[in-house]
Amino acid sequence: MTRRRGTPTRTPTRTRTPTLALALALGCGAEEGPKGAVGEDSAAGGVVDSGGEGAQDTGPCAEVPLVNWDTFGAGFVLHHCQGCHASTTPDRYGAPPEVTFDDKEQTWAWRDRILERSAVDPPTMPPAGGTSADDRVRLRWWLECAPEGT
Ligand code: HEC
Repeated sequence: MTRRRGTPTRTPTRTRTPTLALALALGCGAEEGPKGAVGEDSAAGGVVDSGGEGAQDTGPCAEVPLVNWDTFGAGFVLHHCQGCHASTTPDRYGAPPEVTFDDKEQTWAWRDRILERSAVDPPTMPPAGGTSADDRVRLRWWLECAPEGT
């Protein structure tokens, strides 16, 4: 019965455990808190401000010159498309009969397909190419920004 006091080793063990736990908790809190809060605040403020005030003035057609059938389309279609897509052409080179661009009404009827075939880079119409980058920009100004049918 002389070994009763051989148990003081428990005291140091109790002291170490809470110290480590406290240190880990403080470390995690210090890293996550400030970074997350600052990043979210500044990002949200910037997006809301610029989008709300400037949306109407910065659309894709906002500063585009007026381009329409009379100022651009008629000449462009005559030069680059009507060789195969006019109703009067002697040889359509396989262009479908329903895809005919004699006037602005017929041309506007194919607006979406024309943009997809001829206003992209590289264009797939005309089949052999030949339009300039400027032409393709004007084609977009015309069919995307001019009043429909003009
Ligand atoms: C050398 C003859 C030729 C010229 C020039 C030409 N095309 Fe075509 N086009 C074709 C042929 C052939 C087809 C049918 C095969 C095809 O769709 O690739 C066609 C089909 C089309 C179609 C219908 C197919 C679709 O994708 O919806 C459109 C739209 C079109 N062409 C637009 C144009 C435009 C716009 C121009 C002028 C910038 C043009 N083409 C110049 C021969 C021509």
